[in-house]
Amino acid sequence: MLAPKVLITAGPTHEPIDPVRYIANRSSGKMAYALAAVAKDLGYRVVLISGPVSLEAPLGVCLICVNTALEMFDAVQKHIHDCAIFIGAAAVADYRVQNYQDKKIAKQDALFELTLVQNPDIIAWVAQQEINTFVVGFAAQTEDVLSKAQQKMQRKKLDMIIANDVSQADIGFGSECNQVYIIKKDQSYERSKISPKIDLARDIW
Ligand code: C5P
Repeated sequence: MLAPKVLITAGPTHEPIDPVRYIANRSSGKMAYALAAVAKDLGYRVVLISGPVSLEAPLGVCLICVNTALEMFDAVQKHIHDCAIFIGAAAVADYRVQNYQDKKIAKQDALFELTLVQNPDIIAWVAQQEINTFVVGFAAQTEDVLSKAQQKMQRKKLDMIIANDVSQADIGFGSECNQVYIIKKDQSYERSKISPKIDLARDIW
């Protein structure tokens, strides 16, 4: 019998402006890669759909590399079937540039405007599908961490959400350690200690 399948999104997405520039965010992918490593150790079949990061995929994990939110959405749609658990740990860009320029944009006036259009919400799409997938989201907040994450879990119809405070420079984005709230569907939660991301990944699993 095949082991249950887990799909994890990781890292930032890069939204291109022209051939040399893009919009991105500070996600390092470390938390998602740690979750993938622990899932593999627990015996799951792991598919990791990752935006651009400088990490090596854990051994035995199927890695799919993407750049943009639309590419990530496409890969999730292709791989979501038969999936027991979906973890949306990627920091997907909410917006992309409306008019990508295929030639480098030259410097012009002092004021430069870009029009952005909304990207699809990948995890909300997964949660809407009539499939028996347990859906876990992440919420990176700078204020009202717990209540905003609880609202996000309800709005996106998630089964569980992991919330972290990214206003603290020593933990969160890019760092080795983090402190999170693990919030269940009934809104009950546990707050972790500040711990290495690999230990948090074990707690979350
Ligand atoms: O709304 P916000 O971006 O804060 O929500 C975070 C959660 O939603 C994360 O689990 C993230 O992976 C997921 N997300 C997504 N697609 C988007 C935006 C966020 O899957 N376009």
